[in-house]
Amino acid sequence: MDLSIHDLVKRFGKLTALDHVSLEVAQGSFVCFLGPSGCGKTTLLRVIAGLEEADGGSIRLGESDLSSIPARNRNFGVVFQSYSLFPNMTAARNVGYGLECRRWDRPRMQNRIKEMLDLVHLADQAEKLPSQMSGGQQQRIALARALAPDPSALLLDEPLSALDAKVREELRIEIRAVQKRLGITTIMVTHDQEEALAMADLIVVMSKGRIEQIGTPQQLYREPATAFVADFIGRMNVLPLDPGAAGSYRFAGTPLAVATLANGTANAATAAALGIRPEAVALREGGASGENILAADVRSVSFLGNITRVELAPENRPETAIVAELHGTATVPETGTRLAVSLPADALRVLS
Ligand SMILES: Nc1ncnc2c1ncn2[C@@H]1O[C@H](COP(=O)(O)OP(=O)(O)OP(=O)(O)O)[C@@H](O)[C@H]1O
Ligand SMILES: [Mg+2]
Repeated sequence: MDLSIHDLVKRFGKLTALDHVSLEVAQGSFVCFLGPSGCGKTTLLRVIAGLEEADGGSIRLGESDLSSIPARNRNFGVVFQSYSLFPNMTAARNVGYGLECRRWDRPRMQNRIKEMLDLVHLADQAEKLPSQMSGGQQQRIALARALAPDPSALLLDEPLSALDAKVREELRIEIRAVQKRLGITTIMVTHDQEEALAMADLIVVMSKGRIEQIGTPQQLYREPATAFVADFIGRMNVLPLDPGAAGSYRFAGTPLAVATLANGTANAATAAALGIRPEAVALREGGASGENILAADVRSVSFLGNITRVELAPENRPETAIVAELHGTATVPETGTRLAVSLPADALRVLS
C-alpha cells in the first residue's frame, strides 16, 4: 500500500517544525529524508509513526486514514539511531519482543526469531546480550526486531550514524538487500548525502521544515532545482548571475549559453544562479575566447589521490571561486597561471 502524506503541519510552540509537507511513498520503495540538523526529518518520521501528533494535514496508508490510529496499531517497524535494545534480554528475546506482545504462540515465535536472525546473519549470536555485541550487530538485531512482526513499513531514524565508517558501508548494503528481498516500504532519515545517494530509490531533501525537492538520486544530482539542493548533494559551483541581465545568463561579464533540460527546469525569469559540478569544469591553456569560456587564475591545487582539485579565481569576479576536479591522468596546472575555463552549456544548471 502506498503511503500518502498531505499538507502536514507540526508546531512546537512558535517553531514550525513541519511546514505544509506533502509526499507520496510508493509501496515497496526505499525513501530517504535528507537534510541538515533541525530541518524536521525526525519530526516527520515520528508523525508518520504516530509518536507525535500533527497540527494539520493527513496521512493515509492505502485507503485508511492513519490520524486516528495510535502508534502501536499502525504496524510500522521502527529503528532509532541509538541501539534501543533491551539490555537485559538476549538477542533472540529482543527479536521476539514484538511477537510476545502480540501473543504469538511459542513454536511460531521460535520459528520467526530464527528466520529473522538468519535474515541479518546473526543466528550464531542468539544467546548474547546486547553488551556482548558490536554496535553493528546490535543495529542488525534492532532491524530484525522491527521486521519480526511483519510490519507494513519500516521507519529508520539515522540507524547507521553511531557506527564507524566501514561498518556503516557494510550495513548500508545489507539493509538495502534485506529491504529488497522483503519488498518492504522503507523510510530512512539521514543527514548523510552519500548514504542517501547510495541507498534510496527516492530522496526527499528537506530544509527548515519544508521539502526542497523530491527525486531519484540521479535526478537530484543532475538536475537540482535550488542552490540548497545543489550544494547539499555533492559539490556544486554556484555562480551568482550578474545583476540586470534579465532573460539571459551572464556571469562575471561573460554571457553563458545554457542547454534547456528535458524537464524544463531552466527558467531565466526565476534564475538566481547557475550551477556546475566540479567534474564538468574543463581547463585549457591559452586565451579565453569562444562560447562559455572565461579567464581565471589558478589559486590553489590539491592532489587528492584519484582526483586533483583546482580552485580558480575568475578574472572579472575573483571573489567567486570556481572549483574544477581533474581525473588522475589530466594535466595539472600550476598555481598562479591564467587559464581558459570552459563551462559547457549542457553541464550548467539554472538554480532558483
Ligand atoms: N519535542 C520537541 N519540543 C520542542 N521542539 C522540538 C521537539 N522536537 C523537535 N523540536 C524542534 O523541531 C525542529 C526539528 O527537529 P527534528 O528533530 O525533526 O530535526 P532533524 O532534522 O531530525 O535534526 P537532526 O538531524 O539533528 O536529528 C528543531 O528545531 C527541533 O529543535
Ligand atoms: Mg533527527
